[in-house]
Amino acid sequence: MHHPLTPLRALLVLALGFTLSPSLHAATGGKLPEGEAKARASDCFSCHAVDHKLVGPAYEAVAKRYAKGGNVVVDTLVAKIKKGGAGNWGDIPMTPHPQLSDADLTAMVKWILSLQGTARAGTSSSSDSTVRHTYKTPDGHTVTTDFAVFTGPDQKHVTATVFHGYEQYNSYCFRCHGGDAVGGEYAPDLRKSLASGMTWSQFLGTAMAGRQAKGMPSWAGFFEEKDIRAIYDYVKARQLDLVPVGRPPSAQD
Ligand code: HEC
Ligand code: HEC
Repeated sequence: MHHPLTPLRALLVLALGFTLSPSLHAATGGKLPEGEAKARASDCFSCHAVDHKLVGPAYEAVAKRYAKGGNVVVDTLVAKIKKGGAGNWGDIPMTPHPQLSDADLTAMVKWILSLQGTARAGTSSSSDSTVRHTYKTPDGHTVTTDFAVFTGPDQKHVTATVFHGYEQYNSYCFRCHGGDAVGGEYAPDLRKSLASGMTWSQFLGTAMAGRQAKGMPSWAGFFEEKDIRAIYDYVKARQLDLVPVGRPPSAQD
């Protein structure tokens, strides 16, 4: 049997290789400052943003606080990131990073300290949204949220974000916190955590930093803020009784 397409295929593979390699190169950080590229390759951006507080302080706020510190500050910050811990900016701890070399951490810290700008106070934009959405629960209560739970003309299908949260929760959180956010043997019912006043910012901080000593893993480096936000939205919608147990009807159905 002949394979008349083989040379063509080879050509395609070659063409693909040529078109892919330059963009791949750019994506791996050819254009970024060395310290930023290393920070992006690590878990730093799960908890930090350049210009606003996330779990940890805005990098611009760090640069501002230590502007006059010189090399002593570089060494102190390198040691802090290695060891982790709380207290300089708040109660939520930074996770330790014993696996990162001093050289890599020094590059990251120098990049952070080089940032100029005026960091916004407060937390991420998704938290202090003033848009309110009003819904009726199955038993007739009116509840409000600061995110959309439903979409479409009939408002019966959950948004792509809430659906993503349902999928992520039931892939990664369910084994301790219970399927469909009903609470588990090993970990608290997250609906109750939200009902008793846990804020989005506390939820994000706990999810990213974990509570290793108590069996709650850190999800930094695995999840980005937007994934935790989707999980939060799903749990909140479950808490408010807007989304039932099981797979919610999604816009893609
Ligand atoms: C789990 C979340 C988390 C991760 C991951 C994380 N940080 Fe932090 N970071 C924090 C928190 C929270 C603080 C504030 C700690 C405090 O209050 O002392 C902080 C503080 C800092 C500070 C200021 C330290 C001080 O004492 O003033 C620097 C610099 C920093 N982080 C850099 C990094 C870098 C670089 C990485 C990646 C290698 C990283 N962080 C990863 C949460 C995190
Ligand atoms: C391996 C088990 C385990 C997994 C998986 C897990 N957790 Fe936890 N989580 C715990 C435990 C245990 C606690 C209680 C810690 C304590 O006693 O303070 C907890 C606490 C929490 C809290 C704080 C609740 C409160 O009321 O203080 C949040 C928020 C949370 N987890 C979010 C998540 C999210 C989001 C996921 C999935 C991405 C997840 N957890 C996956 C074990 C787990």
